[in-house]
Amino acid sequence: MKILAFESSCDETAVAVVENGRSVLSDAILSQADMHALYGGVVPEIASRRHVEAIAALTEQALRDAGVTREQIGAVAATYAPGLIGAVLVGLNFAKSVAYALRVPLIPVHHIRGHIAANYLAFPELEPPFLALCMSGGNTLLVDVKTYTDFALLGATRDDAAGECFDKAARVLGMPYPGGKPMDDLAQQSEGGVYDLPRASVEGHELDMSFSGLKTAVVNLAHNAEQTGRPLDRAALARDFTQAVIDELVPRTMRAAELSGRSTIVAAGGVAANSFIRAALQSECDRRGYRLYLPPLRLCGDNGAMIGAQGYYEYLAGARADMSLNAYATRDIDDPICTYSKQ
Ligand code: KG4
Repeated sequence: MKILAFESSCDETAVAVVENGRSVLSDAILSQADMHALYGGVVPEIASRRHVEAIAALTEQALRDAGVTREQIGAVAATYAPGLIGAVLVGLNFAKSVAYALRVPLIPVHHIRGHIAANYLAFPELEPPFLALCMSGGNTLLVDVKTYTDFALLGATRDDAAGECFDKAARVLGMPYPGGKPMDDLAQQSEGGVYDLPRASVEGHELDMSFSGLKTAVVNLAHNAEQTGRPLDRAALARDFTQAVIDELVPRTMRAAELSGRSTIVAAGGVAANSFIRAALQSECDRRGYRLYLPPLRLCGDNGAMIGAQGYYEYLAGARADMSLNAYATRDIDDPICTYSKQ
């Protein structure tokens, strides 16, 4: 079963053809990051317009690269939430038109479910149940993945996402958008231990996280340095900042595994590309005898293949949408839209 999959929730327009949820036949991606870098972050209006300009050609490219005809497509899958609403609308409505024209089922895919499913493409043996740590530019959450389509949210950030925090910290340290990779590179140049940065916890909700205080602390340090003329050890700050993010994420992931009884842990999302976070997760999992899946770097960020992978399992579970399916900026990972649409 070949699925044509669309992803447009942020600043990547992506179209892929995926066979049986596990095999990527093509994965066409156009990143707009260079354009948004001019403004230091994603400009939603520009993102939507770029999706409009790119999506038809990318669809042709995805079909061509896969070597399949339109008639061989068995279903269309698309991200319907969460994301920048204008951006999601473009991909979703294009996908609806394609499904309508080809007379094939339309499958709604939750973006974070897609990030988790990116791991199915890299690891053929991976199957639920497992615990997923999802960390991207817009979301950070701990999810119990009970089956391919049954998810329970265990904890989440109460404010900023880990990726947003990386991007803003990088910006005040003079690095381009998106700042995660430059911060990772800069942090390699220091052992850290210079800056005392806050670690947050949410009373009564041990698996919830918070990154806004950490973000503000870095912004304040940068502004103070600017005002006083006292130089900042940028590499040490990047390293200490990364350690603070690790302290927020890794112990909670281990606790979530303990509480949910899962011994397989899966990382997902753009921030899963961070070398320090990967190493910290690996060493904690090794210590406890947990099996850890870290997606290859190319599958950490947004892509269409991950939507095709999850779309296949949603399809098998009976998820179908009609032409009235709307796009949403926020939607829980256990969204009833996916459940109710199952026939
Ligand atoms: O998953 P993604 O491509 O988009 C969303 O769905 O949000 O994640 C993008 C985020 C950005 O915030 C980017 O700075 C971050 O992933 N990122 C990283 C690294 N590479 C990308 N953060 C930390 N370290 C990295 N190496």
